[in-house]
Amino acid sequence: MQLIDGKKVSQDILNLIQSEVTELKNKTGRVPGLAAILVGDNPASQVYVNSKIKACGKVAINSEVVKLPGTVSEDELLRVIESFNQNDNFDGILVQLPLPKHISESRVIEAVSPLKDVDGFHPVNVGKLVLGLDTLFPCTPAGIQELLKAYKIETVGQHVVVIGRSNIVGKPIANIMLQKKSFANSVVTVCHSAAKDLMSITRSADILIAAIGVADFVTADMVKDGVVVIDVGINRVADSSPKGYKIKGDVNFDEVAPKSSYITPVPGGVGPMTIAMLISNTLKSFKTKMRLNYE
Ligand code: GUN
Repeated sequence: MQLIDGKKVSQDILNLIQSEVTELKNKTGRVPGLAAILVGDNPASQVYVNSKIKACGKVAINSEVVKLPGTVSEDELLRVIESFNQNDNFDGILVQLPLPKHISESRVIEAVSPLKDVDGFHPVNVGKLVLGLDTLFPCTPAGIQELLKAYKIETVGQHVVVIGRSNIVGKPIANIMLQKKSFANSVVTVCHSAAKDLMSITRSADILIAAIGVADFVTADMVKDGVVVIDVGINRVADSSPKGYKIKGDVNFDEVAPKSSYITPVPGGVGPMTIAMLISNTLKSFKTKMRLNYE
């Protein structure tokens, strides 16, 4: 069993981005900028946004956080997004999800300019991904593919089973792994809560991607020997520590790790990759704007 070290892979990516940002600054006199919008006081969302902003600082790109109260109107939020759409200092805009119930998530997602949509959630970018066109990909799925690349894990013709069909992870990772490209070109099955015989499907997975949001959901009897396990779960489970909780993945690590060829830990697996890909998307959108996409 080999542990997939997302912390290291993400650090390597951020180091490369940092040197590119320095180079671009020398060449253009400008650096990429990311705007993060946080609505309400969801503690997990606050942690995620803080980590994203901290990463911007590490690679020397500009960032700004706008914190809006949970009572903010949808119109006011849409106005804030539009002001960032118009502001040339910002190449990426993210609105941290989830949003309060009185705000339409889809209206908010569609308000972000597709060119600045570093989350890859806008229907234009989702459509391009499904069509196999180059675009901004959602960060967590893009990070999963980078982990598979970093460890040179064979994906072509392999059976990738995704548990979970969210717009943020399940659907986009299924589409990424389906593409006729290297580190993709897989046979993909997407499972969800209505699956009739989940275990018979997960047991045939060469690569199992768990994105359900239920701690310890995947147990040893659900996987075959030699499986590659990617655990996307970040679940807060109450305990007696000073924080009052610990973070657990969707996979029962102690049970599943001995049967795996590769497995991501939680924390330190997929989580850090989400942030690295967000920064990478911000750089990409900056380069597109500056017409510097020469690769
Ligand atoms: N909430 C959970 N994951 C994400 C993400 O990748 N981006 C945003 N904006 N919100 C999220």
